[in-house]
Amino acid sequence: MTTRTPSNNTANTAKRPAVSDFDPADRAHQTTKFATSYGPWALVTGASAGIGREFVRQLAASGLNLVLASRNQNRLESLAEELTHRYGVAIRTVPVDLGNAGSTEGLEEATADLEIGLLVNNAGVETHGAFLKSDLDRENALLQLNIVRPMELAHVFGQKMARRGKGGILFVSSTLAYQPVPYFANYSSSKAYILALGEALHFELNKSGVDVTVLSTGLTDTAMAGNIEGFDFGKTPMPMMDVEPVVRTALKHLGRRSFPVP
Ligand SMILES: NC(=O)c1ccc[n+]([C@@H]2O[C@H](COP(=O)([O-])OP(=O)(O)OC[C@H]3O[C@@H](n4cnc5c(N)ncnc54)[C@H](OP(=O)(O)O)[C@@H]3O)[C@@H](O)[C@H]2O)c1
Repeated sequence: MTTRTPSNNTANTAKRPAVSDFDPADRAHQTTKFATSYGPWALVTGASAGIGREFVRQLAASGLNLVLASRNQNRLESLAEELTHRYGVAIRTVPVDLGNAGSTEGLEEATADLEIGLLVNNAGVETHGAFLKSDLDRENALLQLNIVRPMELAHVFGQKMARRGKGGILFVSSTLAYQPVPYFANYSSSKAYILALGEALHFELNKSGVDVTVLSTGLTDTAMAGNIEGFDFGKTPMPMMDVEPVVRTALKHLGRRSFPVP
């Protein structure tokens, strides 16, 4: 675990996001609302790549300090270095395999001295193919990462937020959550669980001052989407989305809607 704080020099010269990064109204909403409602620290799981990496970038641009959690320490460190320099925020990296039982407690310990105002439950894996031919260990591992860990993290950090009377939790689901999907049976079922959990908590935690939103994204241009062999996405009616508008949609609706679909 390492923590980078901006040097005086960096803080003075650090750039806030280019105006073109966000719609001006969204930016104003983000920077003011985020600092007061979801600061001073946000915890992002699956921060090293794809959608999680873009969450980290946009949240740093909003001025939040960040805890980055995923397995690949080198990628976390280089992202931390880049963002501390660019945005003048503090960043702690926590290399962790969230597939492991006990990793929730590890993450809680690694952040015990920080006020986590926003949890982004993003880390996930997918499996696909004929269910009966799939590897049972991989399917079980998917459930640990996609279901058990987000539930546990929401429980642990949600309690702390509720005690403070403010905070936010963002779950990352999928448009595959809205219907059973043959050949993605376990993955789509895991995302249906996350959608249901998040929508229930959106209602339940509201009276504690904790905002809960579930991002249900469609096909998004990341390594995960790129690694699905045997599927020609050019033949589907779904366009591949960039991570930037997907994450922007999630952050725009945090505290406003329960399940935005970009
Ligand atoms: N891309 C899409 O089309 C799409 C569509 C709908 C929903 N989603 C959802 O969006 C989320 C992010 O997916 P993505 O497309 O950005 O995938 P990605 O590019 O493959 O990134 C996955 C992230 O999760 C981390 N991760 C994977 N296994 C982990 C583990 N055991 N412990 C800790 N971290 C782990 C990876 O980092 P390390 O390798 O460093 O651990 C990486 O940072 C997932 O929940 C996914 O289900 C994606």
